[in-house]
Amino acid sequence: MHRRITGQLVIATHNPGKLAEMRELLAPYGIQAVSAGELGLGEPEETGDTFQANARIKAEAAAQAAKLPAFADDSGLAVEALDGAPGIYSARWAGPNKDFGAAMAQIERLLQERGATTPAQRKAHFVSALCVAWPDGHVDDVEARADGTLVWPPRGTAGFGYDPMFLPDGFDRTFGEMTSIEKHGLPPLGLGLSHRAKAFVKLAEICLAG
Ligand code: IMP
Repeated sequence: MHRRITGQLVIATHNPGKLAEMRELLAPYGIQAVSAGELGLGEPEETGDTFQANARIKAEAAAQAAKLPAFADDSGLAVEALDGAPGIYSARWAGPNKDFGAAMAQIERLLQERGATTPAQRKAHFVSALCVAWPDGHVDDVEARADGTLVWPPRGTAGFGYDPMFLPDGFDRTFGEMTSIEKHGLPPLGLGLSHRAKAFVKLAEICLAG
């Protein structure tokens, strides 16, 4: 049985960009979102081996510490020809300086080594896992993906991370060439294309709407 969220929700992130995006998505539902950072909660180690496991670790830690329902996400890019890498290590591939130019170049090098030159050999997907955990141990989780092809060289300066290399299926612009509203925004303004937007819609259906 899923549980409806009403009132206060902790967003288990210390990342201001994610917090702003999540607050925007939650605002229409009348949810007051307070972040783990604002509450001074610590950051647990992400020791899971799936996106879902890591989202759950973050949500459960925040719910226990704050004694409020808590929401967390985990995401990344899985490249099919690289057996799903960088996957849960997507942020780490950019190193301490968060150099995603270098991380994208590394992916391209590995694709070239494997002779992955045609679009069919260069399929990849972004994954977003979302979890809401409650202080009494109840958990709801959802996951969604955005499918596409990796292009080289990267195109566009919008977005973040691996966006400039990712051409979503059915479009001729990379995520790096789209506005944030197009990529993450929900219709009618946005296209609801991103893994995060799709996962959020699923979560809204089970935990927020109505
Ligand atoms: P985390 O979810 O904070 O663990 O970080 C996931 C990492 O995956 C980010 O640092 C990005 O490198 C990558 N990533 C996740 N979502 C996106 C996206 O929408 N565009 C580009 N890169 C992404």
